[in-house]
Amino acid sequence: MLQTQHKIIIGNSQKMPEIPDCSIHLMVTSPPYPMIQMWDHQFSESDPKIAMLWKNLETNPQQETIAQIYNAMHENLAEVWKETYRVLIEGGIACINIGDATRTMNSSFRVYPNHARVIEHCECIGFTSLPYILWKKPTTKPMYKGKGAFLGSGFLPPNAYVTLDCEYILIFRKGKLRHFPPKDHLRYDSALTKKQRDEWFSQIWAVTGSRQTADALERRTAAYPEEIANRLIKMFSVKGDTVLDPFLGSGTTTKAAIQNCRNSIGYEIDPNLLPTIKKKLDKNDAKMVVDVKTIKRTEIVRG
Ligand SMILES: C[S@@+](CC[C@H](N)C(=O)[O-])C[C@H]1O[C@@H](n2cnc3c(N)ncnc32)[C@H](O)[C@@H]1O
Repeated sequence: MLQTQHKIIIGNSQKMPEIPDCSIHLMVTSPPYPMIQMWDHQFSESDPKIAMLWKNLETNPQQETIAQIYNAMHENLAEVWKETYRVLIEGGIACINIGDATRTMNSSFRVYPNHARVIEHCECIGFTSLPYILWKKPTTKPMYKGKGAFLGSGFLPPNAYVTLDCEYILIFRKGKLRHFPPKDHLRYDSALTKKQRDEWFSQIWAVTGSRQTADALERRTAAYPEEIANRLIKMFSVKGDTVLDPFLGSGTTTKAAIQNCRNSIGYEIDPNLLPTIKKKLDKNDAKMVVDVKTIKRTEIVRG
């Protein structure tokens, strides 16, 4: 059986000095979503400019400041997309799960189309956009006046809002198509079944979340279901490849890499999540031969 290696690095993925250029085959990740309230604090901690803009907004509530906060959050994420581009091999794939945000700020409700901003940044960096997946989630309630539910209204046009019940799984490639030697045995050994190919390469995925079974800390990371990571790893890498997750959260991508005989590297900035990650990996009932190393960076690397 293929022995795989897994590194968990507690540190900021805006710089990944532990990873050489052109050495990663696939990135699968879900970043903090800009303009979703639960991530405001983390963006401010990571970039003092964002913290200062929030302060300015309190004293001088201007629409322009909100636009600056939104831009700065995406610039912050783009540092990670740039580093990912550096470490991916030619033909390597990047899969980014991201949801748009709706929010009322300064008494004004609007959608913040995060997926569009990520596409713009990644294309500027040099990635090629590929057809993406819409992950249809079962849980979200319809919106009325930004309040999160119709609350008995919404029958009279025109002031109700469409519910955001899909998230995006954006897919990018670095450079040209990846090449393999003829009859590469690991590639053939990684083949999908016909059912998997037909179902997974269609654009809409109705995958249910794992949130009901997750503990409180894992829920705070907004973990994606293991099924999402499993599918992406099987679709866009072969056994023995290395998969990167620069926003590891509870460790779902590492667990999926272990189960699918891929090596992995995961970065997580919050050291409090380490016990959650370890617990998730301990539940690895596939009994794979794995070597998991945890590295704690002492310094904080800023872009
Ligand atoms: C949406 S969660 C990822 C959830 C993950 N997919 C899972 O299944 O558990 C985003 C994670 O990225 C981490 N994070 C945010 N900024 C980071 C950075 N610059 N470097 C490393 N980790 C970061 C957050 O602490 C959070 O745990």
